[in-house]
Amino acid sequence: MAYMFLRELIRTYRERDPAARSTAEVLLCYPGVHAVLWHTLSHWLWNHGFLLAGRFSSHIARWLTGIEIHPAAKLGRRLVIDHGMGVVIGETAEIGDDCYLYHEVTLGVARTSSGKRHPTIGNNVIIGAGAKVLGPVTVGDNARIGSNSVVLDPVPPDTTVVGMPARPVDRKLPRTGPHFDPYGMPCDDSLDPLLRDLEGLRAELTEVEARVARLALAQQAQPRQEQRNSMPAGD
Ligand SMILES: CC(C)(COP(=O)(O)OP(=O)(O)OC[C@H]1O[C@@H](n2cnc3c(N)ncnc32)[C@H](O)[C@@H]1OP(=O)(O)O)[C@@H](O)C(=O)NCCC(=O)NCCS
Repeated sequence: MAYMFLRELIRTYRERDPAARSTAEVLLCYPGVHAVLWHTLSHWLWNHGFLLAGRFSSHIARWLTGIEIHPAAKLGRRLVIDHGMGVVIGETAEIGDDCYLYHEVTLGVARTSSGKRHPTIGNNVIIGAGAKVLGPVTVGDNARIGSNSVVLDPVPPDTTVVGMPARPVDRKLPRTGPHFDPYGMPCDDSLDPLLRDLEGLRAELTEVEARVARLALAQQAQPRQEQRNSMPAGD
């Protein structure tokens, strides 16, 4: 069970983070993996009434990873916390499946109150670096939150919000539903595939031209060097 959980998590990092090169690298060098694994222990302790032990366990995880997740927070499956440092996930926060959080994201409180006071994040949501989502707001499925945004109002599904306070951008997502674009930026599918191939060929041609020019220069330099070598040495 724990093995399956770990395998699924590592596979998700490898699929979604263009910088993740191997399973060993993800296992050893990704604090987001360590924080989520540690949270399963802290959450178990909390849910079984060991409140102080749960808090202490999450404190150790924060110490080791720079990611603070309250033991009561509910995390969905395949959560990726990329880079991690400075992430804070509050006590009553809930995160759906397949979400992607960058460093310095806060799921926090807007005003002091009791009860549910942290956000509820849907499935397949991307939250950019430094973004703050504050209060018991809901962020809909497939939404994207721009880096450094401050979200105070609910975000509808399939919507991108940016700014402080965050507002929807005047731009529809090219596709809706569960898919993933690294950094939340859709690749430009609108570009004609033929044009894309031509761009590739043009780049290769430029490279070949530069190589030929370098070879020609080297050939020109060679006879001069030979001539210099055959000349009698002066005094
Ligand atoms: C929000 C985001 C997902 C939008 O990506 P996109 O769909 O390609 O959108 P665009 O770049 O076309 O931007 C749309 C508009 O929002 C603005 N915008 C984009 N990101 C913004 C941000 N973080 N803050 C403020 N405005 C932003 C753009 O300037 C543009 O404005 P305009 O329509 O007036 O020109 C992306 O910009 C983002 O912030 N991704 C997270 C990246 C991240 O955290 N990287 C960390 C990697 S380590």
